Amino acid sequence: MLDDLFRAVLSESESALQDLTNRFSQHRILVIGDLTLDEFLTGQVERISREAPVLIIRHEETRQVPGGGANAVFNLAKLGAQVTAVGLVGDDDQGKALSRIFAEAGVDTSGILVDRSRPTVTKTRISGHARQSVTQQIVRIDRKSDASVDPALQSQLAEFIAQRITEVDAVVCSDYGEGVMVASVIAAALQHSLVIVDAQKDLDRYQGATIFTPNLPEAELAVGYSIAEANLHTAATDLLQLTNAPQILITRGEDGMSLFGKDGMTEHVPAFNRTQVFDVTGAGDTVVAALTLALAGGGSFWQAVVLGNLAASIVVRQFGTTTTTVAEMQEALQGLLETQSG
Ligand SMILES: Nc1ncnc2c1ncn2[C@@H]1O[C@H](COP(=O)(O)OP(=O)(O)OP(=O)(O)O)[C@@H](O)[C@H]1O
Ligand SMILES: [Mg+2]
Repeated sequence: MLDDLFRAVLSESESALQDLTNRFSQHRILVIGDLTLDEFLTGQVERISREAPVLIIRHEETRQVPGGGANAVFNLAKLGAQVTAVGLVGDDDQGKALSRIFAEAGVDTSGILVDRSRPTVTKTRISGHARQSVTQQIVRIDRKSDASVDPALQSQLAEFIAQRITEVDAVVCSDYGEGVMVASVIAAALQHSLVIVDAQKDLDRYQGATIFTPNLPEAELAVGYSIAEANLHTAATDLLQLTNAPQILITRGEDGMSLFGKDGMTEHVPAFNRTQVFDVTGAGDTVVAALTLALAGGGSFWQAVVLGNLAASIVVRQFGTTTTTVAEMQEALQGLLETQSG
């Protein structure tokens, strides 16, 4: 439940927040990152195989959705933004699937290069269910390469970014540690004045970025110690120093998120929805998408964080869905303001 004080502050900002979301579709965003495909294969369990003691599953459906940096791209597109994706896919069916999904969502895919020596990063979950029972994941197969990206491709990525950087309102770096975010790519990205970094590790490589959005485990990895309520502020100070960034947003799962500024600013935003939470995967990418569009529209950091939090509160409610829309966000904001605290 939101407390009355927070609801009152939110209420005062209502028209500014609505206005920011109304302008989401005007913004041009360059997303650079590790593009991933999430695959879900499901079917009904028929019997035990005679070849080996394993289940035989009759295939029913294959679902393919963007993951990792591709989820950040997809979230921005679903919020109506004009998105250009930059990254790598392999010369394979998964890469084609990702490009097709992006094209259907209106994403400019001209910055997605084909890397013939590495597969499209793909995480395939195989799940089964008995005749009338819940579906359960049995195994996950990951496709990826530990080899570093060919230097020629690295230069092509950096060149593409350099060409497009003057045409966009913001740059998002979505670093899932799969190899795209090499030094030259990061350097090209940091030429923009508004850079949002969502990186799993090595945050200090992004000196000059506007804001970082680590979740709690990522923040802990960066500072090297575990973080609780009591030392959250110390951790934020260390993160600000490590990254040299003016702002850090630590997303804290069910505890919402905390924003810290080099100027001493501290803002805590509670999770807007803690009761109907079904699926939190990908919520961080949704936060980044809404936050980026709010900042691109000239919103304050607090307003951007509130809108990021609002967008996340919607996606955690939906099983298997990781995106939301402006209409859903506006409706959710209305709902928050109307709810009487008990
Ligand atoms: N259990 C939860 N209850 C309510 N809100 C949640 C919960 N988990 C996440 N959220 C919302 O989503 C935001 C981002 O979540 P989190 O900190 O888990 O990001 P993340 O770990 O980067 O996510 P991912 O990397 O899977 O996309 C939170 O700040 C909060 O607003
Ligand atoms: Mg994340």
